[in-house]
Amino acid sequence: MNLLNSDDLSERDIAEIFRIADRLSQNGRGLRLPTHATVAMLFQKPSTRTRISFAAAIAQLGGEPIYVDADKSQLSRGETVADTAKMLGSYCNIIVARLNKHEDIKELAVNSGVPVINALTDLEHPTQALTDIYTVRAHTKELSKARLCFIGDIAANTANSLMITAAKCGVHVSLVGPRGYRPNPVMLNKARSYGSVDVYDDIERGLSGCDFVYTDTFVSMGQEEEAEVRKRRFAPYQLNDRTLSMAKPGALVMHCLPAHRGEEITTDVIDGKQSIVWEQARNKLLIAKAVLVYISQHSKD
Ligand code: CP
Ligand code: NVA
Repeated sequence: MNLLNSDDLSERDIAEIFRIADRLSQNGRGLRLPTHATVAMLFQKPSTRTRISFAAAIAQLGGEPIYVDADKSQLSRGETVADTAKMLGSYCNIIVARLNKHEDIKELAVNSGVPVINALTDLEHPTQALTDIYTVRAHTKELSKARLCFIGDIAANTANSLMITAAKCGVHVSLVGPRGYRPNPVMLNKARSYGSVDVYDDIERGLSGCDFVYTDTFVSMGQEEEAEVRKRRFAPYQLNDRTLSMAKPGALVMHCLPAHRGEEITTDVIDGKQSIVWEQARNKLLIAKAVLVYISQHSKD
């Protein structure tokens, strides 16, 4: 079993991953990787949280992480993704990969013969979305009553995965961003086939009634050339005291991190009393473990 797209997981799969995470947060007895399971971590883009939480998760579950910096592998000298996949699959039991292009992670999965977990591509960040909804779940009685607003770059990988995972779990999603930066239509239609997702450019309308307000960088990795235009265009969509006050009183603030303080979010808000950003970031370790356990339980030896 692979986790390449958020849509690879049914609502039942997600519920089971959350149950494993709950058990892991208690004592997690019996929840381990097979002895000496070796997990290749192929990273083509920078990472702090995903890389370290997966490496820690693998070690703490009894497995062995092997970090592969794509720039120091033969991928950087033109070896194909398919040939690299064959090698990683011959030496390792699972692959966790952060790649530039989503097409490449599909190619990796087709050729490796072992389970592949997406640790972010240009299109998706499925383990982040699981972490996000797991965090929302801890702060709400019923996911189906929760209203979550993503403000800012609603075409980003994080927004894509979040809207699909949230909609599957019954969370109502509102996406608020400037005209000209609309959500990916394929991802939006997919999310709408599972639940309620509204799109706004009007900030007040988009935030109205929301219990959770989520943002991400205005300039994702790989978009550096567009940085100045994006920062200008997205500036009105900054999450600050004024925009936060348009959501429900006491609405909780989320961010996948890394944050660019003063751009998509102010320091007052990210460090303020409505922020659950650090709890959200801590949950990445639990979800990394739960995903690894779930994937290894659902894969053939
Ligand atoms: N949220 C997240 O994926 O952070 P990193 O880029 O640090 O892994
Ligand atoms: N959208 C961001 C997420 C970083 C975790 C990026 O792709 O850079």
